[in-house]
Amino acid sequence: MKDDRPFLVSSSEANASDQSSVESTWRNVVKRRTFLHGLGAATAALPATALFAAERDPDRDNHGLTRGDAAILRLAAAIELIEADLWQQYNELGGAVDHNDNPNPGNPSYTAALANLDSDMPQYISDNTDDEISHAAFLNAYLESKGEEPVSFKAFQTIPPTKATGANQNLARITNLRALNVDTSWYFRYRSTTNPDLGAQFPQLLDIKKQPAIPISDTDTDPNALVPLLQSLPITDPKARRMQAIANTAGLHFAFIEQGGSSLYPILALKATSLEVLRILLSIGGVEIDHFSLWHDKGGNAIAQPLAGPNGLTDPETGLTFPDFNNPANQHNAKLSATDQAAGSQMFQTNLILPEPAQFLSQDLPPVSIIRPTLTRNGGAVATIQAFIADNLFFGQKDPRFLETVFRLAREADAARRDSDAEDGN
Ligand SMILES: [Fe+2]
Ligand SMILES: [Fe+2]
Repeated sequence: MKDDRPFLVSSSEANASDQSSVESTWRNVVKRRTFLHGLGAATAALPATALFAAERDPDRDNHGLTRGDAAILRLAAAIELIEADLWQQYNELGGAVDHNDNPNPGNPSYTAALANLDSDMPQYISDNTDDEISHAAFLNAYLESKGEEPVSFKAFQTIPPTKATGANQNLARITNLRALNVDTSWYFRYRSTTNPDLGAQFPQLLDIKKQPAIPISDTDTDPNALVPLLQSLPITDPKARRMQAIANTAGLHFAFIEQGGSSLYPILALKATSLEVLRILLSIGGVEIDHFSLWHDKGGNAIAQPLAGPNGLTDPETGLTFPDFNNPANQHNAKLSATDQAAGSQMFQTNLILPEPAQFLSQDLPPVSIIRPTLTRNGGAVATIQAFIADNLFFGQKDPRFLETVFRLAREADAARRDSDAEDGN
């Protein structure tokens, strides 16, 4: 596929663990921002918050939010708008109901393939979508109630929707789910006793590069050729296998997205000054962890019997294979650390979905079951945006001001520090 991303760094450049790529992205962003300052007409289209936030009074505003707290909430609102945009696409195609709880016809074949992971998947997708919409709406309303500008990405809804049956053809998007690079290293991270905040690194479970997580057209996958339910496995029809592979990619992508939020919110919470802002971050962050746990379970069904079958399930178009990782013959990954290799089948077992106790704070302390990472450099705002770029989530977004805006919001949130002198009493 032709690389058509003039304003995005490539996935290899955007590796979140590669600090030099973060810095080079930033140099480009700063260069473009300087350029845009000279363009009155161009900047007129920017969301108000993108233009004026930097000029705010450095002290607490009249309504009680510190600059740091406002920056944290703006970034959270931005992340939630991104989440809501992608989840709405999943819901249109594979959700049980629309935002008003009306039955959603969607893409029947895609919905059936998702239901092969778990018969309740379509309902879970609808509920997760509603959660993200509510997170974004609440954060923006709270910002406004404190005299702050809400965050809007309407100007950046420039990516055409998929033509496949089910998608709203009248709504351009800010995210693209048709050529994803799904980072599956979280799978090992949560089974390992080591912790990225103490230097641990994890390989990919599966090599999911430029794969669709939603149907890309009705020619590619027939919306009405229902994928057989689990009772009629194995899936023999090539088009149905293709659709199942797309649904499997989605299942693992759901967990990737939500593990990111699971780390981001505690990281933001550590920087909050107001107890009310802290309460918001802990309360929304807890739901992100709830989402992650759910999708960790469902994603695991894509790489287990009976769906994976004795030889796994292979996409006939791309060759991507989802093996049964409970089969010892498939439990090998030479790139695992010696510690993780020694852990054996624990690193692969698909129903091991709760966090394995891991190192935390110091290797001298006993292992403990925790969310990880929780250091800014590993899972903070900039790291999260870099992970989205590496995911190819913004493929096709041609307006450079989108990334400039989200990176500026991310950098401001990462720079926020708890101000013990400004604590409120609520
Ligand atoms: Fe959310
Ligand atoms: Fe979420």
